[in-house]
Amino acid sequence: MGRRAKPIRRYQRLRHLVIFAAAVLLAVHAISVVLRHANALGRRCFPELTDRNLSPRLRIAMVSFSSEDKASLRSFKEVEEVVAGNKRAYAARMGYDLINADDLVDHSRPPAWSKIPALRSRLSSYDWIFWNDADTVVTNPAISLESVIWSVIGHADFDESPDFILTEDINGVNLGVFFIRRSKWSETFLDIWWNQTTFISFGSTKSGDNAAFKHLMDNLPPDELRQHIRISPMQCLFNSYPWFPSWKSALRLFTSPSTTWKGAYSHGDFMVHFAGIDGKQEWAEKILREMESN
Ligand SMILES: *[C@@H]1O[C@H](CO)[C@@H](O)[C@H](O)[C@H]1NC(C)=O
Repeated sequence: MGRRAKPIRRYQRLRHLVIFAAAVLLAVHAISVVLRHANALGRRCFPELTDRNLSPRLRIAMVSFSSEDKASLRSFKEVEEVVAGNKRAYAARMGYDLINADDLVDHSRPPAWSKIPALRSRLSSYDWIFWNDADTVVTNPAISLESVIWSVIGHADFDESPDFILTEDINGVNLGVFFIRRSKWSETFLDIWWNQTTFISFGSTKSGDNAAFKHLMDNLPPDELRQHIRISPMQCLFNSYPWFPSWKSALRLFTSPSTTWKGAYSHGDFMVHFAGIDGKQEWAEKILREMESN
């Protein structure tokens, strides 16, 4: 009798395993669907804007580069070619200058550092510069950069505005997509940032410029920080990350569900950023196809 029971138990165990695996797959699929429809489900990326129509137009440039990142494991060149038309169309529609700063890449450092001299050299010609890494797509071209800026600041008084507008992900501020305002403070801060040479790191996906910025932020006096650097309460305001199932994203979802909720790319978001993920070109193509079919 005892001997015959064994295969049955084994069969039951297998059945439980199959049911469990199916449940996990279903849950993961449900999470993807929910996050992709986060805005329809009531997520608000935009703070309420009160004086949208009263404000003057701003001189804005979108600056980026596509330089082959030999020091990094991930290439931006291909994804840049895929998103070039998307960025051009958006800038033309809104009347922004679109600047490719490839000529300003300083090859003595990982290319990501060169956003600093690129911004420094153009800042005096604009009110605001919108830095956007090449691995980004404008997913809601009806949203203007002015409305993003004003919604974070809460007013349209240029002189009373902060100098940096950033978003935060699970690792803190992300310097792949952000706004910088024309001011003396911004210029000096860029110079100091550029001088953080101890953070320069070759041969990994982290080039050190982001860590250097965080270090400077952490060491600013609280008053100065409050006055000059503003962080959007919602990451999805202008720097959403696509959510897809992986051990990393599952871990992040369970350790900090609110971070995932605030930053996961959903229909209606302004911009998607393929930060820290492989297959950027495929991702960009997929999102652009989705946009066309809608
Ligand atoms: C950055 O470093 C250079 C060279 O060491 C120095 O001349 C300059 O004053 C520094 N700039 C700032 C803002 O600290």
